Amino acid sequence: LLTKTPLAHKNPSVPDGHSSRGRNSPPNVAANNEWAPLRSVIIGRADNSCFPYEAPHMIEATMPARFHEAFKPANPFPPEIVRGAEEELENFALLLQSQGVNVFRPTKVDWLQTFGYTGAMPRDGLLVVGNTIIESCFAWKCRVDEMANSLGTLLSKLGADPSVKVVRAPRPPSPDTLYNGILEDPGSHEWAINNSRPAFDAADFMRFGSTIIGQLSNVTNMKGVEYIQHHVPSGYKIELLDVNDPHAMHIDATLLPLRQGLMVYNPLRVTEESLRRHAVFKAWELVSYPFVESVQTVEEATGGVPRFMTSAWLVMNVLVLGHDKIVVEEQDHEFAKWLEGRGMVVLKAPFRNVHAIGGSFHCASVDLVRS
Ligand code: NVA
Repeated sequence: LLTKTPLAHKNPSVPDGHSSRGRNSPPNVAANNEWAPLRSVIIGRADNSCFPYEAPHMIEATMPARFHEAFKPANPFPPEIVRGAEEELENFALLLQSQGVNVFRPTKVDWLQTFGYTGAMPRDGLLVVGNTIIESCFAWKCRVDEMANSLGTLLSKLGADPSVKVVRAPRPPSPDTLYNGILEDPGSHEWAINNSRPAFDAADFMRFGSTIIGQLSNVTNMKGVEYIQHHVPSGYKIELLDVNDPHAMHIDATLLPLRQGLMVYNPLRVTEESLRRHAVFKAWELVSYPFVESVQTVEEATGGVPRFMTSAWLVMNVLVLGHDKIVVEEQDHEFAKWLEGRGMVVLKAPFRNVHAIGGSFHCASVDLVRS
């Protein structure tokens, strides 16, 4: 663990775009892949996180069965987990700062008061494509105000820079009919939402240069995909991957690009054949996650902290810093060693408490600038 010193950017503070940036200043927002050197990032905040409360059929479709009862109104996560998660996030932020990355943190929110979920998983709420930040049109009602509450100030500051485009999500219509009946898509999946209005979580999409690979899921529908396609800068194209996962919600435990030309994939959810259908992977080496057995049977040690909201595939939800550096959970020894064997430099950090709240290093971050 790094020693605790105050974070330089604990309270978000962004140069005021136009007036304070010279012609050659680095951009405030510029990222179009998952592996170029990371320069600027948002790291989530765990304080006051509460179990999300959603319609029972949504919880059944997306959350691990043994924890379904916890997903009720006004139910905070156990305080020791929230405390642990906040320490881990702060440590993660310090680690990134020590690597020369500019770090922004969300505003502290009382999620119990706002009937919300958390500030720890900003990846779900913001999709950065080039100079454009697109706020998710969340399907989950308890998340509709999440970005406004936790990152509204930062988004306003970033949006004041004329070189940056911030697309705020419209309010869902009232009444919101998204949960009225399930949707069958042509791939014969049945999802927990219909297509009555745009819905998506940004974490259902991954950037590979001008191609954005996404999935339909229990929180992302076709209108959501069309909405993103409409708002990305010209030249970017969304392609939908064929993913075999009825519980699908977020693609970042399914795909893990390590560097240009090398990607690890989850063989229980996608095949090499389905990936090769996308021209962007033509010259890529695609490697099936090497320790399927251990994920399925033992679930790599969680240190006794339950993963309330995700599968054990969270092991793949790591953050690439560029120059072959990667941040991996400190107890995921097997995977870390394998990554080192592929030429990656592994930085280890504790994150088991953040896992309990719903994600790992990729979920807990939003890259603003990768150069
Ligand atoms: N919902 C997926 C992705 C989490 C990042 C899972 O649990 O594997």
